Amino acid sequence: MATGSGGAATKIVWNERQKRFETEDKKAYLQYELRNSGKVMDITHTFVPSSKRGLGLASHLSVAAFNYAQSNSLSIIPTCSYISETFLPRNPAWKSVLFSEDLKSSI
Ligand code: COA
Repeated sequence: MATGSGGAATKIVWNERQKRFETEDKKAYLQYELRNSGKVMDITHTFVPSSKRGLGLASHLSVAAFNYAQSNSLSIIPTCSYISETFLPRNPAWKSVLFSEDLKSSI
């Protein structure tokens, strides 16, 4: 069982008002904007305090956001470079949730 601050045991909270997925202490977060009448989640920024980096915490935040999007039939725009350059190449199965030109006709 992972017990580290970046491990899978870290609880991630959805902060609907501020459009964030965040740790309970709010120090690490994934920020998004809703577009296309709320059907598209544009992930604009991911932040983890320097003392907790490299432990997978940003990945954990990303999984929470992608799970939420998938469960609510939203598609994702990966504006944040961590998502596009690190998370998606390492977790290519999540590319199925991305917003694509093909979906434009349905939103
Ligand atoms: N863009 C893309 N990938 C990045 C990155 C960046 N700016 N900074 C770090 N990474 C990658 C590294 O390749 C690292 O790989 P490694 O583990 O092989 O060294 C990987 O992220 C680490 O993954 P993970 O442990 O899940 O991420 P993290 O919890 O350390 O958090 C950031 C990663 C980017 C959120 C964190 O470094 C941060 O807050 N940086 C400052 C803000 C920032 O640049 N945000 C991203 C752009 S919006």
